[in-house]
Amino acid sequence: MTQDELKQAVARAAIEYVIDGEIIGVGTGSTANFFIDELATIKSRIRGAVASSEATASRLHAHGISVYDLNDVASMPVYIDGADEINAQGAMIKGGGAALTREKIVASVARKFICIADGSKLVETLGKFPLPVEVIPMAHACVARALAALGGQPELRLKDGKPMTTDNGCFILDVKGLRITDPVALEAQINNIVGVVTVGLFAQRGADVGLLGTEEGVKKIE
Ligand code: 5RP
Repeated sequence: MTQDELKQAVARAAIEYVIDGEIIGVGTGSTANFFIDELATIKSRIRGAVASSEATASRLHAHGISVYDLNDVASMPVYIDGADEINAQGAMIKGGGAALTREKIVASVARKFICIADGSKLVETLGKFPLPVEVIPMAHACVARALAALGGQPELRLKDGKPMTTDNGCFILDVKGLRITDPVALEAQINNIVGVVTVGLFAQRGADVGLLGTEEGVKKIE
């Protein structure tokens, strides 16, 4: 099976977690896009969705799914999103698609986080994928120095030769070289650096369920 077929399989499996009559939180990325396309097939069963990025909101709108402002939603049962890496405890690295801050915010309002990913994303130790950190633009250099002091090699994410700007008007530092043995502690430590908006470690609030696409079928971790 191709990687896209594995992503599609987990997207389809995640439909089982959608609660009829409720609002669902929806993540960002290629796996989340497959999920949105599946969600469209049952859209009459849900009230609508909260999007974790402008791209996800556009795709939901294109399918005729109502998109709610998070400020109008007090709670939602489920948030479904992909990941760049996930470990057996459900801790994740996210933000390859630069939507980490909104993803973390929407996930924080959901009672359950369902992570959908192809099996290659399952790792023993997080950190091979460069850790995204969203930063206030004026602070990118001083935050980069603080991240280097933690042992990482931060690089400003570029697009067309210029710093890439997130949906929040901020920049992303991708940090290589971190072997993340205590993701909960590192998440708190990086979030504490002045100038950091959000670190792409999702460990304090990790996934409750992981659905991983493999050649042998969809494997579940919880
Ligand atoms: C976006 C994310 C994505 O969930 C992550 O990058 C995985 O993307 P994909 O499903 O395309 O592999 O965190 O900010």
